[in-house]
Amino acid sequence: MKLSVSEGNPHCIKPLAALQVTGVQVSVHYVNHDERVVPFLNRPVVPALLLPSGQHLFSPNVICRYLFEVKGQESSDLCNQWLEWEATSLQPALQLALHMAVLQGKGSEVSKVLQGHLNVLEQSLSKDNMPFLTGESVSAADVVLWASLYPVLSETSLALGERGSLKTWFDLVAAMHGCQSTAQKVLQGKGLQGMKSYMQRQPVPQSSQCRDAPPCNSNPAEIEDNDRVVTEEEMEAAVLAWSRDLNNSCDSASRQYPILPQEGKRNILLTSALPYVNNVPHLGNIIGCVLSADVFSRYGRLRGWNLLYVCGTDEYGTATENKAREEGLTPQQICDKYHAVHAAIYKWFQIDFDYFGRTTTEKQTEIAQNIFWRLHERGFLLEDTVEQLRCENCQRFLADRFVEGTCPHCSYPEARGDQCDKCGRLINAVELGEPQCKVCKRTPIIRSSKHLFLDLPKLENELEQWLDRSFSTGDWTANAKQITRSWLRDGLKPRCITRDLQWGTPVPHPDFKDKVFYVWFDAPIGYLSITANYTDQWEQWWKNPQQVELYNFMAKDNVPFHSVVFPCSLLGAQDNYTLVNHLIATEYLNYEDTKFSKSRGVGVFGDMAKDTGIPSDVWRFYLLYVRPEGQDSAFSWADMALKNNSELLNNLGNFINRAAMFVTKFFEGRVPVMELQREDKKLLALVGWELQQYIQLMDKVKIRDALKHILNISRHGNQYIQVNTPWKKIKEGDAERQRAGTVTGVSVNMACLLSVMLLPYMPTVSQTIRDQLNAPPSCIQTILQGSGAFVCVLSAGHSIGSVSPLFQKLEADQIEALKKKFGGQQQTSPQRAAGTPSEAVSLPSAQAEVAPVIGGDPEKAKQLTQAVAEQGEKVRALKAQKAEKTVITAEVAKLLDLKKQLLIAEGKKPEPAPQKGKKK
Ligand code: 2FM
Ligand code: ZN
Repeated sequence: MKLSVSEGNPHCIKPLAALQVTGVQVSVHYVNHDERVVPFLNRPVVPALLLPSGQHLFSPNVICRYLFEVKGQESSDLCNQWLEWEATSLQPALQLALHMAVLQGKGSEVSKVLQGHLNVLEQSLSKDNMPFLTGESVSAADVVLWASLYPVLSETSLALGERGSLKTWFDLVAAMHGCQSTAQKVLQGKGLQGMKSYMQRQPVPQSSQCRDAPPCNSNPAEIEDNDRVVTEEEMEAAVLAWSRDLNNSCDSASRQYPILPQEGKRNILLTSALPYVNNVPHLGNIIGCVLSADVFSRYGRLRGWNLLYVCGTDEYGTATENKAREEGLTPQQICDKYHAVHAAIYKWFQIDFDYFGRTTTEKQTEIAQNIFWRLHERGFLLEDTVEQLRCENCQRFLADRFVEGTCPHCSYPEARGDQCDKCGRLINAVELGEPQCKVCKRTPIIRSSKHLFLDLPKLENELEQWLDRSFSTGDWTANAKQITRSWLRDGLKPRCITRDLQWGTPVPHPDFKDKVFYVWFDAPIGYLSITANYTDQWEQWWKNPQQVELYNFMAKDNVPFHSVVFPCSLLGAQDNYTLVNHLIATEYLNYEDTKFSKSRGVGVFGDMAKDTGIPSDVWRFYLLYVRPEGQDSAFSWADMALKNNSELLNNLGNFINRAAMFVTKFFEGRVPVMELQREDKKLLALVGWELQQYIQLMDKVKIRDALKHILNISRHGNQYIQVNTPWKKIKEGDAERQRAGTVTGVSVNMACLLSVMLLPYMPTVSQTIRDQLNAPPSCIQTILQGSGAFVCVLSAGHSIGSVSPLFQKLEADQIEALKKKFGGQQQTSPQRAAGTPSEAVSLPSAQAEVAPVIGGDPEKAKQLTQAVAEQGEKVRALKAQKAEKTVITAEVAKLLDLKKQLLIAEGKKPEPAPQKGKKK
């Protein structure tokens, strides 16, 4: 075994001390802080232990526990509890304490930060009168806690006070097998100062992270939240980074075909949910998957990751058959037509897929049937006769999405046949109360037919094991984890994977020859077949979990299919498939105060965005600014105008334009000589910190949060220019002219940095800025690869190009006109009027009951639409809170009444609802 450690890194004391205590034989190697020891991690992580199996451990506590296990000492529950406490409660406080002591010269305040934790230890050690934390003999907990406290407890100047039992314990462990001399060696015999260079590389700890109380009744010190104070050391580090050389090893500039996994690289396979082909995506669809995935993939490429982004249209199923019927075309013609519509929309939005395919291909049939047979051979398919809904009027079995009724779980009256939008549970269409055919609105009948089921219960164990790993090592959004957990909690049931339809991948089994695969079995296989259409070597991505990390982007309603059903298909097929490592799910984007609805003509759809005259980059910016990350959000015209005018025009654009114009006007287009003063260094440190935050957030796919740090940088920049008035100083004496030069030079470099950080969000604007600055292509690698620092990439003498404004104001009347146009009053073209069943969720049952009549009151209808939306929200909230049934029923009654009024105001005549079986 090989243990990699670095000097001055306090975390390395732990495994080194554990080696001393356990006597396990390991060869120890000292490496630099920045060395990437663990090949599959994109950040340097030390200490790291290379195991005989070739795997790595890289969490200090886990390494210590492992070493004790090797020695034959398993960790007790109590030991594990201490290890948890150390990692989650003590460490954040320690990081803050060390930051204060080592970098801020505030050693005297350290005791306030740590006293709560030290008291916990003191109480625990004195209470049981045992020499060690877990009993009579030393355990991993003693070593870990001792090692983490060593830097502060051995430093007498910190005056952490005398705690008798704690001191006895501390000295006891220190004396064991040379623990103390090992720790001294890590700190290079310099005590706290030995950690300085390491600490300078760490993100500034947030005091809010240390707020949680220790697991005892002692109160931790209240720590003040300060504004960011820049320390001397941060400034020094920023100046060092600033003068770094340009990185010219430009290996990510061109993309080669085919992109395949590479040894020693971070290989990322990235998918966004395959949009249904039969409708035009709206803004919510666009931000939910393709745009979010695009931003992350652009970012990943800038970071130098080896990345493949695939997507395509989801083309099979009844929805397509219906659309074909409506438009008088064949399903294939519909797919061809709308695939092109989707492709054009995504092109306009600059979605940079490596390949945008479709699911109706031979490869799809080949791969789906192969997976099917493998599942069949391995006994993961069950046969059963099912009752299905059949519409006699339409002469066909009704696919789940084409039937609607009352949810059997939560009584939501507008549940779809496959899933309830309200409670998120899966539904068997025949269980719906008062089912209705969505096409003709008649009541379907129940008919029996033989089907095949994926035996999810049989795969549940394996799935759970794998999910445990994926959750703990990957980035799953909170909603994705929560939805997945709630599925597992309810227990998995076999899921039907066949359908009585024509438009689908044929089931190859002779007993089921008239059937096709259910779209949700088939569609995710589209990711594989689309990759196979991109390259014959697709298996290098899809049967290579050792080398590949898979990111799936989607809206939250797609989560269970990607986290449970599809992984089970792949696990059951037993063909070493790559399974999802990171599942990024957005919440919903609303349109103003309501939902996007094609049938009501509400909202902006992908094909309309370009007709607004607003550039694609501005659309991207605003959608990403309001990305429903963590909670639902809303698109609002007024807010879009506000953000365009304040953030893009006045903040970002203004700063970049001024910086570049100063170079042009005052320095003949050449970057002036910069002589950094204290204020400039402070700015470099602030900017560097924002950049670090941006990188940390983007690495975790917090796209919306990361964007705010870009805007913070230009805010700092505007303030800097404002305070330093280079336009005045340039007219004054030599010293002032020099100062104007420095401020201009720093600013124009910030503009260049901003162009790089903006690239994933606004690719055209980013390129325009770099063109205007005549920035070298290597500026991207310099900034985002390696450790990510604010480097002076436009040095003195560099000639910039011609400068022009980047953004335009959005005027109030323009916005009013757009709002009117897209607010639901516009004429819907026949093509758009159709919509899909999942849209217009607030009105479908009403539509079922109405026949058009003359008249109506558009103004009132507008108010009522709003009222219906609000009341709908209220009902949803009450149900979510599990309010009393009578309260909910009363609010539902109000909702139905409002809907009725709305129909009248829209000039439609509500018919009496059928009484039979009506829920009270
Ligand atoms: O919700 C949807 O738009 C589906 N067409 C997504 C399918 S994702 C994948 F499974 F193909
Ligand atoms: Zn029907």
